[in-house]
Amino acid sequence: MSDYKYSIEAKNVNKTFLKKNQKVKALIDFNITIERGTIHGLLGPNGAGKSTFINVLGGLVKKNSGKVNICGIDIDKNIKLSKFKIGIVPQELNIDPFFSPAELLELQAGLYGVPKRKRKTDEILENLKLSDQRNSYARTLSGGMRRRLLIGKALVHDPEIIILDEPTAGVDIDIRASVWDYIKRISNQGKTVCLTTHYLEEAENLCDNISIINHGKKIIEGSKKDLLNIISTKTVSFVLERNILVPNQLNEFKPILTNNILKLSYDKNKTNIKNIIDILIKNQIDFREINTSEGDLEDVFLKVIKDK
Ligand SMILES: Nc1ncnc2c1ncn2[C@@H]1O[C@H](COP(=O)(O)OP(=O)(O)OP(=O)(O)O)[C@@H](O)[C@H]1O
Ligand SMILES: [Mg+2]
Repeated sequence: MSDYKYSIEAKNVNKTFLKKNQKVKALIDFNITIERGTIHGLLGPNGAGKSTFINVLGGLVKKNSGKVNICGIDIDKNIKLSKFKIGIVPQELNIDPFFSPAELLELQAGLYGVPKRKRKTDEILENLKLSDQRNSYARTLSGGMRRRLLIGKALVHDPEIIILDEPTAGVDIDIRASVWDYIKRISNQGKTVCLTTHYLEEAENLCDNISIINHGKKIIEGSKKDLLNIISTKTVSFVLERNILVPNQLNEFKPILTNNILKLSYDKNKTNIKNIIDILIKNQIDFREINTSEGDLEDVFLKVIKDK
C-alpha cells in the first residue's frame, strides 16, 4: 500500500463556469484535507460548490487552478490512476433504464478492467438489498433502489475512497438506516468515505470530520466534536411541582415559564448546572424532572453560514 496521509488534499482550487455569458464562481480558493480512513462530511447550502468539487475529483469538471491530490497522486499528472482510486456515487439518478442491476455492475466492472473472477456483482447486490431485483430492468426500480444501485456501481473496482453525493436524498427511513449501516461497513474496511448531505442528522450520525462550504469557499473544517463545541449554549427545562414567580436571580438565563415548565439557557463553558439548581433550591422552587439539551450540528451549520 502506498504511503500517504490524506486521501484527498485540495489547495486553492478555483472553478468558474460560464452561465448565459455570466461568470459563476463555483469554487474560490477552495481547500480541503480528508484524512485517510475517516468519514468526512462536505456540507453546504444548495449551490455551494459541493458537486463541482466532486466532479473535479472525478475528472468530469476541469478546475481553472489549484492542486488536487488523491491518495497522494496529483490529478494533473495522472488522472487515470487517481480516478481508479475513487468511486463516485453521483447526485443525479442517471441509470441506463434498459439494463438490469446485475448487467450494469458487470458492465461497470468491465469498464474498469476488473477480471471476471474478481467481480463481486452478487455480493454487492446482496449487501445493498438488491438481490431480488438482480435481473429486472433498471427502469422498473424505485428511486431508493436506483440510489443503492449507483452506490454498487461505484464499488465494483474496489476503490480506496468512496464519494457519495447525497446518498440518501429521496430514500425512506428504513433504507436510509441500511445505507448508513453500509457506509459504516465500508468505512470499517479501512476505506475513506466522503459524503455530501442536506440531512445534518445524517452527518452527525456518520461523520468523523466535517467541512462546511458556502459560495464556493470553505468556511470551517474540523472534527465533528470540535464543530459541535462551537455552540456552547445549553438549555435546561425543569418540570415544576407548582406555579411560581421566577426569581430575579434567574434573569441572566433568559427564563421562559409555560405550563409549569421552566426553561433556561446557559453557556456550558461559564455556568455549571449545579449553580442553577442551587438558585432554585434557595428560592424553594420544587421540581420533579430535569431535561437538558445541547446544540446540534444544525445549530452549528446555521451559525457559521450566517456569520460569513
Ligand atoms: N455545468 C455547469 N454550468 C454552469 N454552472 C454550473 C455548472 N455546474 C454547477 N454550476 C453552478 O456552480 C454553482 C455550484 O453548484 P454545485 O452543483 O457545485 O452546488 P452544490 O453545492 O452541489 O449544490 P446542491 O446542494 O444543490 O447539490 C452553482 O451556482 C451552479 O449553478
Ligand atoms: Mg450538489
